[in-house]
Amino acid sequence: MSTRTPDDTLSPEAAQEGWWHTLRRLAARDRYHERPWGWEIGLHLLRGERRWGVSYQEAARETGLRPKRLRTIVSVVRTLEVSRRQDTSGRDTLPFKVYEECQGLDQEAADELLALAEAKRLSARGVHRERRAREMRGARTALIASAPGELPAGVEVRHASAERLLADLKPGSVDAIITDPPYGRAWLPRCVDVARLAADALTPDGVLAIMLGGLGGEELDTITALRAHLPLRAVHYVVFDASNRLTKDWASGLRSQVKPVVVLGRGERKLPAVTNAIMVNETEKDLDPWQQSTEGFAALVERLTVPGALVVDCCCGAACTTGVACLRTGRRFIGGDSGERVVPVARARLVQEVAALSQAA
Ligand SMILES: C[S@@+](CC[C@H](N)C(=O)[O-])C[C@H]1O[C@@H](n2cnc3c(N)ncnc32)[C@H](O)[C@@H]1O
Repeated sequence: MSTRTPDDTLSPEAAQEGWWHTLRRLAARDRYHERPWGWEIGLHLLRGERRWGVSYQEAARETGLRPKRLRTIVSVVRTLEVSRRQDTSGRDTLPFKVYEECQGLDQEAADELLALAEAKRLSARGVHRERRAREMRGARTALIASAPGELPAGVEVRHASAERLLADLKPGSVDAIITDPPYGRAWLPRCVDVARLAADALTPDGVLAIMLGGLGGEELDTITALRAHLPLRAVHYVVFDASNRLTKDWASGLRSQVKPVVVLGRGERKLPAVTNAIMVNETEKDLDPWQQSTEGFAALVERLTVPGALVVDCCCGAACTTGVACLRTGRRFIGGDSGERVVPVARARLVQEVAALSQAA
């Protein structure tokens, strides 16, 4: 019996050209979500790899799919047994993309996630979210376990609502409130409460800096309302590199590559002559989906305060980025968050940072 395949009758060049043509076609179908073509792409790529040593980079150039995704697809195809992938009638038990989302996990963790996906009929996006949430919980638990101990004088994190925290501060004692509250519509009126309370808590030269998710109509109205309590001094923009994991601006649906930071205060001291943009190209999202870049927040802290200043963040988050930025730049810090599970993580992160700084000194 002949074992020749149709490819064997073609010249090597024509066979390879035919192979590339098929790969491009499969990738185009996958891109336009006709249905996930990962399985077919993976098998095809494996063939090309074996026969012509095709690299993921080359394949990515030709298909427009990312090399990392191509590598993941091939890895799924290499490791996933058909018996696992299909039920007894030959139908796929889970979409291929669900397996892609589980790549890189150890066997036990992957099995658990796949079982959950099957039981709850999770989409690939749902599996992605679940995996990230599990990783984040793991990172938080590990951080708390690895950073016991007390915070030094001048640094604290309280479990309190933003309003409670600000109302409890000594009037006229705070040099800057630098905060990144939730971006949803529901929080905008609370920003106005923050400005009202900040007007009492701040020193005469003190500033309130609030990061917003975007600058839509409702944020503009909010800025007008903020100005009833404190004059507007400047707007800075944190500009994220395109490769960062960008969040969606809830109002416009656009991906926010720029986040405005509205700076208010009664002082007349000249603000430093810097640009209004803070460029950020690092991704730090291991402790909190909303975690900001420490580099970006350190730049903000340095623009708005001097060493020794007292900085408050009334929505500090689990990663407590403003607090870490303050420790790195020699400022005092009071953080607060209403999340019961958030606060121990924020404290642990600061304890860890203090230890790292004293080791480096
Ligand atoms: C956008 S996140 C802050 C992220 C932080 N900048 C970081 O880099 O990790 C907003 C935080 O505000 C907290 N929050 C929500 N409502 C609050 C309230 N009323 N008072 C205080 N904190 C609140 C949430 O628990 C969340 O941790």
